[in-house]
Amino acid sequence: MEIHAYEKLWLALALVLIVGFIGTITYGAAGAGIDMIDDKGGTVDPATLDQHPKFGDPGIEQNGENSYDVYVVARQFVFEPGTTEPLRVPAGSTVTFHVTAADVIHGFEVVGTNANTMAIPGQVAEFTVQFEEPGEYGMLCNEYCGSGHHVMEGKIVVME
Ligand code: CUA
Repeated sequence: MEIHAYEKLWLALALVLIVGFIGTITYGAAGAGIDMIDDKGGTVDPATLDQHPKFGDPGIEQNGENSYDVYVVARQFVFEPGTTEPLRVPAGSTVTFHVTAADVIHGFEVVGTNANTMAIPGQVAEFTVQFEEPGEYGMLCNEYCGSGHHVMEGKIVVME
């Protein structure tokens, strides 16, 4: 049996479309200088967050030569760290974010990358990213969280 020339053409076009769709899904990680590696979680008591060994004083901690943990608390309408002071990480570092919320559900998105999670009271969202190139990234809340939702943002500075 022979495949008609037009049928071959349509098969080829269908393949191009499929590859293209996969490309749009994976594109977020490429080209922006930051790669998503991992995504997992845990739990925490939101009522005693202020006494928590990590989330009580959230920030950055070095855990290896080029490796860091960052604890982030989202609350109406700030990220700690990120909003008052930018979060600073060295270029070429691997950073594991641990993100939770103190009051209501928030979002935590590193603008222009696929690093994006919900920040839920009681839950710790955990994901690891690689900061390759120096630059600045916006942090954004992308879950409606109240009257100040639209101004809830922060900044990550990737240093030379
Ligand atoms: Cu926090 Cu929207």
